[in-house]
Amino acid sequence: PGSWRGVIEEYRERLPVTADTPVVTLLEGGTPLLPAPRVSALTGCEVFLKVEGLNPTGSFKDRGMTMAISKAAEAGAKAVICASTGNTSASAAAYAVRAGMMCAVLVPQGKIALGKLAQALVHGAKLLQVDGNFDDCLELARKLAVDYPVALVNSVNPFRLDGQKTAAFEVVDTLGDAPDVHCLPVGNAGNISAYWMGYQEYAADGVAARTPRMAGFQASGAAPIVRGEPVPKPSTIATAIRIGNPASWQLAERARDQSRGLIDAVTDREILAAYRLLAREEGVFVELASAASVAGLLRSVSSGAIERGLRVVCTVTGNGLKDTDWALSGAPAPITVPVDAHSAAIELGLA
Ligand code: F0G
Repeated sequence: PGSWRGVIEEYRERLPVTADTPVVTLLEGGTPLLPAPRVSALTGCEVFLKVEGLNPTGSFKDRGMTMAISKAAEAGAKAVICASTGNTSASAAAYAVRAGMMCAVLVPQGKIALGKLAQALVHGAKLLQVDGNFDDCLELARKLAVDYPVALVNSVNPFRLDGQKTAAFEVVDTLGDAPDVHCLPVGNAGNISAYWMGYQEYAADGVAARTPRMAGFQASGAAPIVRGEPVPKPSTIATAIRIGNPASWQLAERARDQSRGLIDAVTDREILAAYRLLAREEGVFVELASAASVAGLLRSVSSGAIERGLRVVCTVTGNGLKDTDWALSGAPAPITVPVDAHSAAIELGLA
């Protein structure tokens, strides 16, 4: 045991890489599995947060991107492309830098958090805003990857899911077995599918004694899997999961059904409440979409869909610093004081 080597080296024998694969890594993975005492008290469950915002570019996408970019490099790619609600583009841009590749990103105009836009730009990605939603961007990216010499690194690239399944390995490696329930936000539906792959693989090989029930949560204005049909104009404040026609729809339904789990919708109001709860009661700053996992757990415990007393892991997928708008909205403006201890003490309610 030395320092963490990134998900490819840590789980090399479980990933489709060979000695010839150039490993492009920012030492992603190895994220904390943090006990959540307040959420546990509220739900009567033993709740842990898998804090994926602590990955190199601030989201879980880095686990998949190290694989996608390494395999693209192995195949000789000089350029990569992705559609994104922000996090995939931030991750692709950073890993493309490490690989010396050009990175093109397509994002829905005006609908991605500014921090994510800044990440893609600072890493030198070629960014186009598309006059459409994420689903339109993905369709465009797929077409470009067919007709031009550029590799697609969205989660329709199977290497992405291979990389992302390592998060399930880490949960089992830490807890000694799978939890009873694993809660996740669902957007394009790749991550819930990847976790299910990871849990199944560990159970099949006897590393884990069991698999968890997978519980996925979409935003109610962007909940095609819950409704059973694509949503042409998805709408939610959680822009990361504002997706109306998820690419991994079938895989996610399979994860739900095989695990005897559920996929449900949470309202924007519930997402915002969970976001504030995590910040103010757990000391964990996540982005809005990430709070959907915890919002979903709270809802499911109230409805009885998830029973009290269980061991539950909620993945919080992205770092709150990516999108400070919602942190600042509703917060009081800072008070200015002179360089004077007494005045400061009065404003702080100490005097
Ligand atoms: N949480 C965050 C913070 C995300 O950025 C995403 C997806 C999800 C959850 C949902 O994961 O798509 O695997 O179901 N973001 C993609 C992107 C779409 O472009 O960054 P999923």
